[in-house]
Amino acid sequence: MLKGKTILLGVTGGIAAYKSVEIVSRLRKEGAQVDVVMTKAATEFVSPLTFRSLSLRPVYTDMFAEPKSWNVEHIALAERADYVLVAPATANIIAKMALGLADDFLSTVLLAVRKPILVAPAMNQAMYHHPATQQNLKTLRERGVHIIGPARGFQACGSEGEGRMSEPAEILAKLMALISAKQVLQGQKVLVTAGGTREPIDPVRYIGNFSSGKMGYAIASAFAEAGADVTLVSAPTALQPPVGVKVINVLTAEDMYREVLKLYKDQDIVIKAAAVADYRPQICKEQKIKKSGENLVLELVPNPDILAALGEQKEHQFLVGFAAETENILHNGLEKMRKKKANMLVVNDVTKPGAGFGTDTNIVSFLFEDGTRKDLPRMSKLEIARELVKEIAALKKEKDTKKKE
Ligand code: PMT
Repeated sequence: MLKGKTILLGVTGGIAAYKSVEIVSRLRKEGAQVDVVMTKAATEFVSPLTFRSLSLRPVYTDMFAEPKSWNVEHIALAERADYVLVAPATANIIAKMALGLADDFLSTVLLAVRKPILVAPAMNQAMYHHPATQQNLKTLRERGVHIIGPARGFQACGSEGEGRMSEPAEILAKLMALISAKQVLQGQKVLVTAGGTREPIDPVRYIGNFSSGKMGYAIASAFAEAGADVTLVSAPTALQPPVGVKVINVLTAEDMYREVLKLYKDQDIVIKAAAVADYRPQICKEQKIKKSGENLVLELVPNPDILAALGEQKEHQFLVGFAAETENILHNGLEKMRKKKANMLVVNDVTKPGAGFGTDTNIVSFLFEDGTRKDLPRMSKLEIARELVKEIAALKKEKDTKKKE
């Protein structure tokens, strides 16, 4: 699995740095090329020579050292890597990653990386439980960075608790799992919609909804992580574009309809997580509507139903709809799936705490064409997105095998 892959290993200054020597050795035995980048503090624990001898490659420690090739080295390393592992990851590097600081070679490479990253935290238990570290880890998770550990146990500083770096074997198993997960949708074209459309009333006002785009952006991240070629058609949000995803920004339901239908023919999978306005004002006034003290009546006209149009025009595509429901959740979800000819539907009861609009978590059920369903507990939107990847990859595999028979 690792043959021909380049793993960039970032080693930071913790006593667990000696365990990373074993990681390099094992990665090499599995056929990977390993580029090691060490922080200055890491070199106090283990000599760069040890890593160089095992990786059989130069070890990078200094931003301003004599370059080892003509390339801009931190960028070349970031681009060459297939996967990035930071082990051990101190509280300091985790904080720098969360903030996007780039004040040494490793943090600069990490800021330039657009590949899957696995982080193995290692620190004193009090530092690990500090709200700042917990918040930084949460930020990284939300951004799609994978975290393994830390483990609980006796610590080098004499205390006991959570903070020990996970064992090299566990870290490698997690890396392998990421690589195999990454391959499940390799080369598949995936279109995701996200956010809430805005329907202008006049130059300064619009009809909108509470969608933050978090669900759709998490889906785009998870599918990119699974090797898919992802396009995200996004209504306005305050989110950063997910790494490795092509983003097309739209405003209204009609804009989204046009962009999605233009791209539909070439897609293998389409996931409609956007909250699309069912109606828009019949007229968008050219000038700002003046306050008059009288009641104001807005005439609304229906918007095109994008999912229904995709269902009608479906050829080879695997079509997934969402349903934001407030009552008769499963019944209404099933109805929607059948009416809009989707292959799968994700329903969420948007009245539940921790579910639906604006939250970091969601509570969903997957409804399938054959009438079965899978209920998920409350999970982060990214975890739900990764579950969606697994389900769709399995269903597509089954479909493709049947087609071949
Ligand atoms: O963005 P977040 O803050 O993270 O919130 C996530 C979410 C609640 C928006 C998301 O989980 C969700 O439920 N998205 C679908 C919202 C919605 O519009 O549901 P609906 O039941 O009204 O529509 C059903 C399906 O038809 C959806 O796939 C929708 O994209 C689609 N639709 C609806 C109307 C329309 N005119 N065109 C459509 O394509």
